[in-house]
Amino acid sequence: MPKAWVVRELGTPDKLRFENVEAGISGDELVRIRIRASAVNFFDLLQIAGTYQVKPDLPFIPGAEVAGEVEAAPPDSGFKPGDRVLATVTQEGLHNGGYTEVTHAHPDAVVKIPDVMSFVEGAAFFINYQTGWFGLHRRAKLQPGEVVLVHGGAGGVGTAAIQLAKAAGARVIATAGSDAKAALCLQMGAEHAVNYSEEDFVGAVKQATDGKGADVIYDPVGGDVFDRSTKCVAFEGRIVVVGFTSGRVPTAAANHLLIKNYSVLGLHWGLYRQRAPQLIRECTENLFELYAAGKIRPYVGNQAPLQDAVALLEAVASRQTTGKAVLTVGQ
Ligand SMILES: NC(=O)c1ccc[n+]([C@@H]2O[C@H](COP(=O)([O-])OP(=O)(O)OC[C@H]3O[C@@H](n4cnc5c(N)ncnc54)[C@H](OP(=O)(O)O)[C@@H]3O)[C@@H](O)[C@H]2O)c1
Repeated sequence: MPKAWVVRELGTPDKLRFENVEAGISGDELVRIRIRASAVNFFDLLQIAGTYQVKPDLPFIPGAEVAGEVEAAPPDSGFKPGDRVLATVTQEGLHNGGYTEVTHAHPDAVVKIPDVMSFVEGAAFFINYQTGWFGLHRRAKLQPGEVVLVHGGAGGVGTAAIQLAKAAGARVIATAGSDAKAALCLQMGAEHAVNYSEEDFVGAVKQATDGKGADVIYDPVGGDVFDRSTKCVAFEGRIVVVGFTSGRVPTAAANHLLIKNYSVLGLHWGLYRQRAPQLIRECTENLFELYAAGKIRPYVGNQAPLQDAVALLEAVASRQTTGKAVLTVGQ
């Protein structure tokens, strides 16, 4: 029987239990995947705590994106046993989810990965880059030469956004919570990086842009970081609201939007899966092209075997990880 981390009561990661689970459900409609690597996303913490917008019924297996090998697939799904794939999975009962050895995904949520892409990279490739692409291109309509400010630039979402903005011909400024993380932002392609735990980023952004401010601000942090962003957004600039890792959901002041001619744009990538799956497929093609051209490459700063999931989740919660955190399974 496969092993899995199971949420039976909501709360902190230490509430998770490592259990044997029944792997078998009907393979008639779903692709069965032997997981080799499984992403740990910040939103997993929220889901385990019961504070995320998607609230699975208990008990469930956390984790939303995996990479591995197909074990079984519906005949006309386009997949066959042995295919190397990545997949996004839902958390339904004890046969889906990511923090486990075997999972099941809808064929539409499964994507073949190139031979040169490792399973660890595959598990880190999808959600952050899709989110970055939709945020920067679909929502903010980023133009070459514009200035993009990426907050939390050393995190999973942040490292992907820096690479994508650079690949789109933008100038990138990033913020991060330590000197080491700021250095990582530069490594990812930012031309300036600010340690915002020591220095107010507003002055640095104005200095780097001759006082104009950033055209696009990509914000997975929220709270005070969002508030300060409104002080350095350019004329006709766009602030993309991506998440609230700071723990505070900020409020946009309509009078300030009016006075300064800027926009605040919400981004919920998961909604595109429901409303516009064709856009996801187009985005996936674009992302693989950028990967093949060497313009984007997932930065996985922390890896641990599946049995160490709780420690890895706690490291994400306490800002100790960089880039993407990934669990390895049977490797
Ligand atoms: N909108 C969407 O569709 C979408 C899709 C995917 C993810 N998200 C959201 O994006 C956010 C980032 O996700 P992620 O997986 O990239 O997380 P991550 O890898 O943990 O990165 C988040 C970054 O937030 C910063 N941060 C600032 N204050 C923090 C605090 N109090 N606690 C923890 N981190 C803090 C940390 O950087 P510093 O230490 O450098 O400040 C950290 O590197 C999450 O809120 C997630 O839910 C949204």
